[in-house]
Amino acid sequence: MKKLIVCFIISLLIYNCSKKSSVTGFIAEKAMVVSAKNEASQIGSSILKKGGNAFDAMIATQLALAVAYPFAGNIGGGGFMVYRNFDGQKGALDFREKAPLAASKNMYLDHLGNVIPEKSSFGSLSIGVPGTIAGIFKVYEKFGTLPFNELIQPAIDLARNGIVITEKQAKSLQNNIELFGKVNSYQTIFERDWKQGDILKQEELAQTLERIRDFGEEEFYTGKTAQLLVDYVTEMGGIITLEDLKKYKAIWRKPIEFKYKKYTIISMTLPSSGGLCLAQILKSIEPFKIDTIKHNSTTYIQLLTEAERRAYADRAHYLGDIDFVNVPIDSLIHKNYIQKQMRTFSWKKATPSSEISHGKITGFESNETTHYSIIDQFGNAVSVTTTLNGAYGSKLVVKGAGFLLNNEMDDFSVKPGVPNMFGLVGSETNSIAPEKRMLSSMTPTIVEENNQLKMVIGTPGGSTIITTVLQNILNVLEYDMGMQEAVSKPRFHHQWLPDIVTVEPNGFDEKELENLKKLGYTIVKKNSVVLGKVDAILVLKNGKLEGGADPRGDDKAAGF
Ligand code: GLY
Repeated sequence: MKKLIVCFIISLLIYNCSKKSSVTGFIAEKAMVVSAKNEASQIGSSILKKGGNAFDAMIATQLALAVAYPFAGNIGGGGFMVYRNFDGQKGALDFREKAPLAASKNMYLDHLGNVIPEKSSFGSLSIGVPGTIAGIFKVYEKFGTLPFNELIQPAIDLARNGIVITEKQAKSLQNNIELFGKVNSYQTIFERDWKQGDILKQEELAQTLERIRDFGEEEFYTGKTAQLLVDYVTEMGGIITLEDLKKYKAIWRKPIEFKYKKYTIISMTLPSSGGLCLAQILKSIEPFKIDTIKHNSTTYIQLLTEAERRAYADRAHYLGDIDFVNVPIDSLIHKNYIQKQMRTFSWKKATPSSEISHGKITGFESNETTHYSIIDQFGNAVSVTTTLNGAYGSKLVVKGAGFLLNNEMDDFSVKPGVPNMFGLVGSETNSIAPEKRMLSSMTPTIVEENNQLKMVIGTPGGSTIITTVLQNILNVLEYDMGMQEAVSKPRFHHQWLPDIVTVEPNGFDEKELENLKKLGYTIVKKNSVVLGKVDAILVLKNGKLEGGADPRGDDKAAGF
C-alpha cells in the first residue's frame, strides 16, 4: 500500500512538472514594471529602486514612453489607470481626451450628410483635447512621493540624448513617413530614412518636458506649450482653443469591480467599455467548467465567441460617456440579465450576430495603444493603458514643442450606422458633443485572490483589447499558466460585428478551426494579425513577481 501511495505521489509530481511550461518570464523579488519599451521599463524600475512608489513609477514610465515609443506613448493623448494600494484600497483615473468645445455631432459629414473620409481620423480635426499631463499631475497630487523633477528628468534626458530605434520601430516609422509629410506644414523629426540602430533625438520634446518640470500642469494647459499647441492646430485648420485646454480635467472614478469564481476583478469603467464588457463576458462563461475544456479548442473558442458576441452587441447599443448618457451598468452585469442573454447559446451551431438584439452598431478603436503594469516594493499596483489612438495619432507634431497629437475623435460614432476607418459603425450613445469623452475599449485590470493582489494586466489592440485581456486572465486563472506563457499564447477575437472570428496565425489547430467552420463560424486567419501586446505581472505563490512582456512587440519587464 505504502509503495502504491509513493508511486502515486511521484507520478503526480511528474505530471505537475511536465505540465509547467518552459516559458517563464522575468522574475523579480519585489518590484516590477512591464511596458512596451525597455527604456521606459528601466526608468520606471529605477524610480522604484530610489524608493518611489508605483504611482511615482507610473509618471516616469508614462513620460518615458512618450519619448521612447512615439507610436502610442504620449503626452498628447490620454488614457486610464486602475490601481490597488497595498492596503486593498482601489480606484481609477480617467484622463481620456475630450471633444473640443467647437465640436458638433455632424462635424465629419458633408452637406449631404455623408461621412467625409479620414476627417475624423487624420490631421488637425481628428484631435481630442489631450488628458495625459492632467492625468499624471492628478496621480502625483494624490500619491506621489518623490520630487516631481526626479520623475520627469529621465524622460528629458532620454529625449535629449536619443533613443536607439529598434527593427520594429524603423519599419513602423518608415511606413508612416509619407503621412507625416502630408499632415504637417514643416519637416518633422520623424521623416527620414529609418534603419534599425539609428538614434532619434527629440530636442523640442526635451524642452517641452523641461517646461512641464519647471511650471507644472499649467504649462501644458495654459502656458507656452498650450499656445504652441493651439497655434499649430489652428494653422492646420483644427478647432482646439486655449479655452479647451484650460477646461480639461482628469477625473477619479469608481472602477468596475466584480467576482469571477473565487477571484475579484477590478477594471476600468466608462467612458471605457473595457471593464463592463470584460465583466459581461466573464459572467457569461462563469457557469462552465473552463479548466476541463481544452485550451483554444473548438469548444473553448465557441464558448468565448458567443459570450463576446453578446457583450459587444450591448456595448454598441448602450455604452458612452457616463457624464453625458445614462448607462445601466449594474443591470448589464447582473447575473439574471447575463443568463437571459446566454439562453440562445447552443453548442450545435453559431448564433448569427444578426439574431442578437441591438444588432445595429458598434464603435471600434484602432490597435495602436499601449499598456504598462507596475507593482512596487510596498505592494501597490498600477495598471495603465494610454493612447494616441492610431499609429502616431493624428500624425501632427506640434511645431516648436515636438510632441504628437492624438486622433481620438475617431473613437466617437461619427454617424450612427456608418462605418468608421476600421469598417465598423457606432451608436447614438457615443455621438459627438462638446466636452464629451469618446468611448474606449481600454481595459487596465487588476485581479485579486482571497483579497490579495494576484495580477496586473492590460493591452493595446482597439476593440480586441477586451478579448485579449479576457484570454490572458483565463490562461492564468483557469489553465494555471505562468504570466509569460499566458502572454505568449496565440489569441482569437470576436466582436459581434463583423460576424467573424479572427485568429492569430500559427498557433491554432487546423482541425479545431475546421470544426468551428462546420458549426457556422467564419474564421479569418491573416498572417499579419496580432491581437494585442499584453504587459502584465503575476504575483507568484512564493510572493515573487513574474512579468509577461509580449513577444509580439519590443516589450520588456524590469525590476528587482
Ligand atoms: N483608442 C483606443 C481605445 O480607446 O480603445
